[in-house]
Amino acid sequence: MPIPTIPTLNLIGPGRLGRSLARLWHDTGLVQIGAVAGRHAKRCVAARDFIGAGTPMVDGPLPPADLWLIATPDDAIAGVATGLAADTALRTGDIAFHCSGALASDVLAPLQAIGAHTASVHPLKSFAAPDTAITSFDGTFCACEGAPDALQCIAPLFDAIGARRFSIDAEHKLRYHAAAVLACNHLVALMEAALRCMEGAGVDRDTAWSALQPLVAGTLSNIDRNGTRAALTGPVARGDKQTIRDEIDATRSLAPELGEAYRVLSLVALGLAPPENGLTRDDISAS
Ligand SMILES: NC(=O)c1ccc[n+]([C@@H]2O[C@H](COP(=O)([O-])OP(=O)(O)OC[C@H]3O[C@@H](n4cnc5c(N)ncnc54)[C@H](OP(=O)(O)O)[C@@H]3O)[C@@H](O)[C@H]2O)c1
Repeated sequence: MPIPTIPTLNLIGPGRLGRSLARLWHDTGLVQIGAVAGRHAKRCVAARDFIGAGTPMVDGPLPPADLWLIATPDDAIAGVATGLAADTALRTGDIAFHCSGALASDVLAPLQAIGAHTASVHPLKSFAAPDTAITSFDGTFCACEGAPDALQCIAPLFDAIGARRFSIDAEHKLRYHAAAVLACNHLVALMEAALRCMEGAGVDRDTAWSALQPLVAGTLSNIDRNGTRAALTGPVARGDKQTIRDEIDATRSLAPELGEAYRVLSLVALGLAPPENGLTRDDISAS
């Protein structure tokens, strides 16, 4: 079924990402917001107010729509898809999509089975604060996979809000998403580990962060300019075996996970170190 000029979008999951995208699309005038559906009336109303359009809904069958965005937490997507498949409002040819980074569009198989075209589009962005997310979405990379019919319909919507789309192989979404988790969420964890080590050395947290921040910014800039291999300095790059062993022990004495983080990341760094420095996996693992 061809999608009408101004399609209607039902949003299921009125959380951070869902309300942000719906607001951006409402602002473009390219979609008409239909249901803003969730589990709690107050949150659906808050999302509707943020979006500036839509009908908050908790119970009852959803109205027909051309586009269905399932923006619940990942674990709920399959269940919502199964429920929607039993909902007569969803018509053959409708587009159903989600924005999970870890799941592929095949989690929407129950909807595909009743004739919907399904896809996933994952924005590589944190929507922690929707107010900020909507003003900074322009330029966000979005990993897309799914049925060509579905992608063809939703691509212009993402393009209109400044997405930089690229294709991802459905089979490898977990690896793809792990990359995003490592670069974003685990960077936070890594900074926390570094701060705890500084505190363990008697440096207060504020001073520690003031000292580490330029180091981190400079390292990111070096990676950006010259790549990871050229940006690696420190004991692994130099092959300082004893320092590595001592620092694994020193961090482990603060907390086992700090020692393990240091050791495991040293193993990853080893892949970037010049082979002539003589450092081996055993030097790092044997500590
Ligand atoms: N946040 C990000 O930075 C980000 C970035 C990229 C992709 N994503 C993806 O976007 C999706 C949504 O993530 P989010 O961070 O926006 O989550 P979120 O803020 O936790 O919002 C999820 C929403 O779904 C609702 N919900 C939960 N179970 C439901 C159900 N069974 N039926 C209907 N509504 C339900 C929640 O309602 P309650 O308030 O009742 O719990 C909440 O409003 C996920 O697939 C995630 O992987 C998120």
